[in-house]
Amino acid sequence: MNEQLPESYQVLLEPIERLLKCPTPKAWIDHAVRPENIPLILIDHLHCELKAAQSAGLLLRRYALDNEAKEQVLDWLLPYEDRLYRHQVGTFGSKNKHVPRIRLRGAEPWQERLVDRMVLLMKEELHHFDQVFDILEERSITLFPVSASRYAARMLRDIRGGEKTGLIDKLIIGAIIEARSCERFAALAPHVDESLARFYLSLLRSEARHYEDYLALAQQVAEEDISERVAYFLGLEKTLIESPDQELRFHSGIPVLSDVA
Ligand SMILES: [Fe+2]
Ligand SMILES: [Fe+2]
Repeated sequence: MNEQLPESYQVLLEPIERLLKCPTPKAWIDHAVRPENIPLILIDHLHCELKAAQSAGLLLRRYALDNEAKEQVLDWLLPYEDRLYRHQVGTFGSKNKHVPRIRLRGAEPWQERLVDRMVLLMKEELHHFDQVFDILEERSITLFPVSASRYAARMLRDIRGGEKTGLIDKLIIGAIIEARSCERFAALAPHVDESLARFYLSLLRSEARHYEDYLALAQQVAEEDISERVAYFLGLEKTLIESPDQELRFHSGIPVLSDVA
């Protein structure tokens, strides 16, 4: 339990800390909050917000939407992708306004919930993207290229084949990434400046709900107990968090540093 946080946040964190198999190591926090590393952490965070929205968009397109709605999801994401990957501001004027009119294909009972939850999640992640972008601008931090960490890629490598099992695994991984993000925001908050701390804490509530939504969806799709599969990915995640990592990223492992004892 993070005792440096107000009680209302501790209540949000409690189930997350119970779910995850380890807390963020102190060595990662100490390294991440060094003033020279904050720009990297913020830019990687910006990538994470877009990736969270893109992953939700992928699930919508792959498992629930008709062709027209699929296009709308891509159109919704495009200005954000232009902004981050192509440094184009032209299409970015209308922040987060292209929420698609969704039409379902298929009639699985979980599809409606998937659409409902993932559209809301996309909306929130893209709002977070806007917020991180504004923080970078306020701090005059110029975007520089940041490669993806090993974290999500390694978990995604173990997704099972098969339509339904694959979807269940993707949802479980989504839940774990959201839960870890939440835990890391809380871990960072007491060690960064006041305005960044306030921002990180403001994210806790939505990220906590995102992890619950993913897990509930996985359970609904599976129609059978998923605890073994959840435990498998949680074990893998713990290894990624607690093993040495050459690159500092928002979800990286223990920093490998020559100047750290
Ligand atoms: Fe987010
Ligand atoms: Fe999230």
